[in-house]
Amino acid sequence: MPISPSVSLADGVVIHHPELVNLYGCRIGAETKIGAFVEIQKQARIGRRCKISSHSFVCEGVTIEDEVFVGHGVVFINDRYPRATTDGRLQTEQDWTVIGTTVKRGASIGSGAVILCGVTIGEGAQIGAGAVVTHDVPAHATVMGVPARVSAVNRGSV
Ligand SMILES: CC(C)(COP(=O)(O)OP(=O)(O)OC[C@H]1O[C@@H](n2cnc3c(N)ncnc32)[C@H](O)[C@@H]1OP(=O)(O)O)[C@@H](O)C(=O)NCCC(=O)NCCS
Repeated sequence: MPISPSVSLADGVVIHHPELVNLYGCRIGAETKIGAFVEIQKQARIGRRCKISSHSFVCEGVTIEDEVFVGHGVVFINDRYPRATTDGRLQTEQDWTVIGTTVKRGASIGSGAVILCGVTIGEGAQIGAGAVVTHDVPAHATVMGVPARVSAVNRGSV
């Protein structure tokens, strides 16, 4: 089922291709727009008037506040040291702990960025395309590169 009954969709959420997304156990705020081939996992929270562009992956433990832009093919991470097995048997959810990430209001994440777990992206911050974010990003900062480094602090009022 592309949109599980366990998903909470607020008024005005726009999903142009509901048959081409994978949403389960998550909460999506009012007027948020979600593109094709997006996966949003259980316990993820998306705020109001966000744009989640096609091919992005929002995993368990991610909280995205209001008015956040997520570009195409953005990948969030919730396990810093992933392993397939423990002592030769496949891992289950009991073998690891979700590490959360928060994206504050009005931030913008460029296409192809990877957001490591346990970070906070500050209000109005801009993440460059293809960046790998490994540390917190200050409010209104622009970061880019691998690993992402601050390149400027904007004076805008987002
Ligand atoms: C590579 C990895 C294991 C390193 O973890 P770690 O040893 O705890 O590393 P730290 O977080 O202490 O970071 C050490 C340095 O490496 C950099 N770094 C960490 N991961 C990086 C990555 N993926 N790409 C580029 N630089 C990276 C950090 O920026 C830091 O450098 P800095 O302090 O100069 O900025 C981890 O960051 C990683 O990428 N894990 C894979 C997560 C994943 O893909 N999970 C699967 C989906 S849930």
